[in-house]
Amino acid sequence: MGEIPDPFGEARRARGVLGLPTDKEVIPLILRHEEVRKAAKDWKTFSSDAPFRVPIPSEEEVRSVRQLPIEVDPPEQTDYRKLVEPFFLRAKQPAFVARVEAITERLVTESLACETIEAVGRFALPLQSRALTVLLDVPEAEAERFIGWGVHVFHHGSNGAEKGRDLERYLNEQFDRAAAAPGDDFYGLLTKATFRGRPLTRDELLGFANLMFAGGRDTVIHTVSSVIGYFASRPEALEFLRADPERIVLASEEFFRVYMPLSHIGRVCPVDTDVHGMTVKAGERASLCWASANLDETVFEAADEIRLDRRPNPHVAFGFGAHLCLGAAHARTVVRTLLEVLCRRVAGIDLVAKQERVENTAAYDRPLGYESLTVRFRPLPE
Ligand code: HEM
Repeated sequence: MGEIPDPFGEARRARGVLGLPTDKEVIPLILRHEEVRKAAKDWKTFSSDAPFRVPIPSEEEVRSVRQLPIEVDPPEQTDYRKLVEPFFLRAKQPAFVARVEAITERLVTESLACETIEAVGRFALPLQSRALTVLLDVPEAEAERFIGWGVHVFHHGSNGAEKGRDLERYLNEQFDRAAAAPGDDFYGLLTKATFRGRPLTRDELLGFANLMFAGGRDTVIHTVSSVIGYFASRPEALEFLRADPERIVLASEEFFRVYMPLSHIGRVCPVDTDVHGMTVKAGERASLCWASANLDETVFEAADEIRLDRRPNPHVAFGFGAHLCLGAAHARTVVRTLLEVLCRRVAGIDLVAKQERVENTAAYDRPLGYESLTVRFRPLPE
């Protein structure tokens, strides 16, 4: 077995599809890189116009609003997306990167001062939460509330519904404040925005903000903690990056490829559709399996090995086509900055204890980072 377990490999090579049984339907997961990209572009056959049903399992219990712009198709999606795209692209600006760097630097300093640190709850969660305040352009102190929600929230599963209500209450407060005096933060920007000549409704505002919180949370926490776990298992890896800092960008992409936090994302077929020999009835779902596409051996040499200098790396961790992840620039800034600060400050990371996390489904079991990961950061001499 390779370094990265591939629960989709056999089905991908044999048939290109894997049936995922759920309460209501058997959902074909599309597994091959080329087919995933093709389906992601074909929104007429594989539609996202399906409130609550793009994620699998569905999220009717977790939120009361349609997430935007993800749960809608072009051309509406294109117009919704235009409203927020410039705000997300700020994550590439030097001043933005400097703020994320300062947050990361402080966390690394604190971690170096501790004997050991639990990297999921005490490093990845605060890093994600504080970096999100930079993206939202709100005071960093707000992050304390986000940290209080804990890890793994706002989706189907433990506490999802209760935490989802808590999030909606919080977001309503933010939009009430912005309605009274709209500033230049994320809430103010959306409050002042117009969609096809009219202001956004409260449900639309909540739909944008909900995705900002839910889509950018587990994904980043999982990637950051997996990266820390990787360095704890590969003592030579930090040295390899230090030898040539240009490797930081390539290594970040490789981490996104192999640690892909979202195994697959659903689409609804408006008419009966054949998916590699499996029939999806009109109104039922297929799913785009990004995690499988990222391990497709016809595209990636030694696909189940982590190569920190892999190039080219046409992974689909951030999706493909119209819905390409809006938070990708932010996630890249967070992970690249983390690598850069670790290279500069940390000699090595030692594993103390870990509890691995697995996504268990009726069709596959996929390792998905850590429930907890206790490590020791060793300082580089000044
Ligand atoms: C490692 C981190 C992340 C990964 C792997 C990831 C992955 C993805 C994927 C695969 C999609 C495409 C969904 C589809 O086609 O249905 C997507 C869309 C999206 N993501 Fe991310 N994401 C990450 C971080 C973030 C962050 C930090 C944010 C915001 C704070 C964010 C916000 C969004 C939004 C708004 C969309 C919808 C774009 C659209 O529909 O036009 N993501 N993401």
